[in-house]
Amino acid sequence: MDPLLEAALRARENAHAPFSNFRVGAAIEDDSGRIHTGCNVENATYGLTVCAERVAVFKAISEGARTFRRVAVAADSDVLTPPCGACRQILWEFCGDVELALVNLQGKTESFRLKDLFPRPFDASFL
Ligand code: THU
Repeated sequence: MDPLLEAALRARENAHAPFSNFRVGAAIEDDSGRIHTGCNVENATYGLTVCAERVAVFKAISEGARTFRRVAVAADSDVLTPPCGACRQILWEFCGDVELALVNLQGKTESFRLKDLFPRPFDASFL
């Protein structure tokens, strides 16, 4: 399997999801080929929960990565789990029209461009 998808599936195992029991992993490949991972981290106040994708992006940024080639999201669902609206905004901000691969535990995959999931974005070009 593609190492980026494997990394997302592995990251999912670290999910802290005691409230939803919905575990998600994400992996982002930067332009040097390094893979940064994240999992969802839930909170008892629910609203402070952070999705796997944002954890992966912020970890990557905090390690100095700035340009990204691909993103992968892993979850246990038959209809493959796409990033939520907030994560689409964050992914657009830092990754632009990146290739986005979704995968489940059976190894089913689908690929998208972020632009197709997040048309007409608001971003820094307006400011
Ligand atoms: N979640 C993610 O981490 N990423 C997604 O793409 C969808 C949703 C998390 C947030 C929450 O911890 C749980 O899944 C249920 O919404």
